[in-house]
Amino acid sequence: MTNHPTFQRSFQNQIALVTGAGSGIGRATAIAFARHGANVVVSDVNERGGHETVEMIRRDGGEARFIGCDVSRSDQVKNLIANTVSTYGRLDHAFNNAGIEGTPAPLHESTDENWKRTIAVNLSAVYSCMKEEILVMLRQGSGNIVNCSSIAGIRGFPGMGAYTASKHAVLGLTKSAAIDYASSKIRINAICPGVIHTPMVDRVTHQDPKVEADYAAGAPMNRMGNPEEIADAVLWLCNPGAAFVTGTEIVVDGGWCAK
Ligand SMILES: NC(=O)c1ccc[n+]([C@@H]2O[C@H](COP(=O)([O-])OP(=O)(O)OC[C@H]3O[C@@H](n4cnc5c(N)ncnc54)[C@H](O)[C@@H]3O)[C@@H](O)[C@H]2O)c1
Repeated sequence: MTNHPTFQRSFQNQIALVTGAGSGIGRATAIAFARHGANVVVSDVNERGGHETVEMIRRDGGEARFIGCDVSRSDQVKNLIANTVSTYGRLDHAFNNAGIEGTPAPLHESTDENWKRTIAVNLSAVYSCMKEEILVMLRQGSGNIVNCSSIAGIRGFPGMGAYTASKHAVLGLTKSAAIDYASSKIRINAICPGVIHTPMVDRVTHQDPKVEADYAAGAPMNRMGNPEEIADAVLWLCNPGAAFVTGTEIVVDGGWCAK
């Protein structure tokens, strides 16, 4: 994470929640929020990964606490937000990032179970998180939400029907909610990462150098992105510098979608 002087410490005394913060993009964003002064709620279904992120933030001199949550369970999401508010009294920024890639297969060979689980984690969970977050933000009269979509929210990808449908739908949800709450000082945006080098991508490429090179070559910049490059964009969206930005997506993809 680069320490941009324009927003150095600009999240001081603010509360940021990151779901799926036990790995990859979520971890990098939680660390970035903490480096810029926020108290961070690190949430994940994977307790070990979540605790590791908290340790990384504390070693770095930041403030964080882990609250476990399977975001596909709306009862657990309610607890997560209630716990955040009972601990910190408010919620300023939420990055709804937790997601799964599902099991790639052409549609006729894919399972109903894969469809249901991918939609539950990548889409229905974003709805559940937003609902609870917005209730808090309405009470306090402000807030920022960033939802994690993908370049698969803009383009089709072979063998990724459920994932692609879930990420397209996240953009629709983001836009509609942004309109609903624009006059309530709640900004709601999405981020569309390209191929970012995280454990999720390692699972898809099996770390085969040839497959990795093919993925990198999909971007005109001929490389994968780093999780920190997504974190930078999420923090910008939550920054006062983005005060007039709502209901849109930022694509961070090395030029992939420009082709
Ligand atoms: N890496 C990429 O190339 C890429 C590209 C576009 C979009 N994305 C999106 O970025 C987000 C983060 O992906 P990543 O690459 O960091 O993946 P990752 O697998 O490294 O991290 C995802 C995290 O989400 C958590 N998670 C999964 N299911 C959960 C659930 N039900 N409840 C709570 N937490 C859960 C995992 O435990 C993990 O810690 C995802 O939404 C993904 O779809 C990733």
